[in-house]
This record gives sequence, C-alpha cells and structure tokens, in this order.
Amino acid sequence: MNGIGLATKIVNHEVNKAGLVDLIGEVGEINVQGEAQQKLDLMANHTFIETLSKREIVCGIASEEEDSFISINSFDMQNKNKYVLLIDPLDGSSNIDVNVSVGTIFSIYRRVTPIGSPVTIEDFLQKGRNQVAAGYIIYGSSTMLVFTTGKGVNGFTLNQALGTFYLSHPNIKQPEDGAMYSINEGNADFFTTGLNNYLRYCKAGDDDKMPYKARYVGSLVADFHRNLLKGGIYLYPKSAFDRQGKLRLLYECNPIAFIAEQAGGGESDGKGSVLDIEPTELHQRVPFFTGSKNMVKKLESFLKIDD
Ligand code: AHG
Ligand code: MN
Ligand code: MN
Ligand code: MN
Repeated sequence: MNGIGLATKIVNHEVNKAGLVDLIGEVGEINVQGEAQQKLDLMANHTFIETLSKREIVCGIASEEEDSFISINSFDMQNKNKYVLLIDPLDGSSNIDVNVSVGTIFSIYRRVTPIGSPVTIEDFLQKGRNQVAAGYIIYGSSTMLVFTTGKGVNGFTLNQALGTFYLSHPNIKQPEDGAMYSINEGNADFFTTGLNNYLRYCKAGDDDKMPYKARYVGSLVADFHRNLLKGGIYLYPKSAFDRQGKLRLLYECNPIAFIAEQAGGGESDGKGSVLDIEPTELHQRVPFFTGSKNMVKKLESFLKIDD
C-alpha cells in the first residue's frame, strides 16, 4: 500500500498537469484490448510497474496495458516476494482529454506457486474471492484512495500540498437502496430484453417510486464512487456487439466487486457474484453490475428472462 500510495502521488501530479506538458492524446499504439493507448495510459502503467517492482513484496504484475504478465526478479531464488498485483493503471481513458475524472483500479492476491520460483499464469488466474486487497484511486475534484483488505472499506483523501493521505471516509457503507442508474444507454438497441425491461423500470414512476436519475461519467471508477457514497447502480451489460460485455474481470470487475461487497453493496454478472468466476484468461471480459444491494437484486430478477 505504501508503494501504491507513492505511485498515486506521481500519477496524480502528471494527470493534473497533463494539459500543460503535452501528456494528452493518443500514442498511436493499439493495446491488447484493441483500444488506442493514450499517453496517460502508458505513463500510469509505467509508474505503477516501476514503483511496485522495486519493493521486496510483489513477484508479478498483470496490467490492462500489457499483453502478458510481468515476472519480477523471477530467477532470484532468494526472492521471497509473495504477492501479485493486477491493475487498470488509468481507467476512463476517453475522459482524459476533456478534464473529467479518471482513476486507477488494483487487485492483490497471494501467489499460489512456490515462493522463490518464477510466477506463472496460475498466480493471476485466481477467482476474485481470493483477493487479499483491492482498491481504486479517483483523480477527481480531489484525489482519493479507497481500498479494502477484507475488513471494511476506507477512503483516504490526498492533501496535495503536503503529499499525505487523510482518512476522510472511514468504514464506508453503501446505501442499500438508491435512485441513480449509470449505463451507456446509447447501446440500448443491442441489449437483451430483460435489460431493456429493467431500464424501462428505472425510468418509470408510480406512487411508490420516482423515476431514477441517469448519471453516467464513462469512467467506471467515477461512476462507482458516486454510487458507493450516494446509492445507485452501475451497469455494463453484454450486447449484440460485446457478447461478453466490455469490462475486464481481473482488472476492473473483481476489485470493484470486492470493495462493493465489503461496503455492504451488491455485484453481479447478471446471474451471480463475479467473485466466484474461475478466470480462464488474463484479459477476460464479463457483463458487470454493481451498486446498492437491493437495486442489484431487483436487476437480477429482470435478467432471469434472458436465460
Ligand atoms: P479503460 O479506460 O480502462 O479502458 O476503461 C474504460 C471502461 C470504463 O471505465 C467505463 O465505465 C467504460 O469503459 C465506458 O465504456 P463506454 O464508452 O462504452 O460507455
Ligand atoms: Mn483501456
Ligand atoms: Mn478501465
Ligand atoms: Mn485503463
């Protein structure tokens, strides 16, 4: 966490001055996800990898921006490092150029292969239930680090002048109900019937319920953070053109799901917890829904007809 805190301060500094020092825009490369990499995607990726691999604790890193996992000091038999890190270095790339909140998401597991040997893919393809810690950083109107080690969720705000994190949001609990829904509804023509029925329910009002407010930043971290504090639901479903959804199980869904669960919120791939999925590949995508517990339950009841 110390290393993550340091990398956060560096990335925060770069994100803040991006418009001044030519750090905005694409680099001209396509990553393994098929996305155009932004300069800040690469800067954040490099910063987290360099900072964490210098510590005697992490033995391997997998990143959204890397084709394969990175093994750290793999041939040093004295290497006692026992944790692997999985990371979405810069979440919400499409918002960089327009000064809208972006984030970082990370997930930490204990390695399953013997200490002192090179890491293997097995160390990374663990189900989300095995996470020992997970968190995100939001580079927003203020910069916050929110994380869990499985004993609740705490949020720390960065004092930029002093470079210190303050426990500003102890023991975060997500409201069990909410009145906001967050989805890229532009894709609605390509969603399933159950999902579209649910969206109609969100927009309908009656004596018991006002229509929900639509709120969509387009950065998972920012949308999740708002719904975590205020109540609401975030949806990234499968569609006719994204059969598996868009979000990455290992770098985005599992860490966010672990935090949601620890804050008393809900999370699902539409049928059950994403934390129970046995991953089959590093860059695997899944449909993902997370938010206030009762809202996620309600959504699941609508999705039953899609089976
Ligand atoms: P990333 O910038 O790490 O590639 O992630 C982008 C993700 C996520 O942050 C966001 O919620 C979602 O993509 C937005 O997708 P749409 O533009 O399809 O709404
Ligand atoms: Mn990306
Ligand atoms: Mn992302
Ligand atoms: Mn990213």
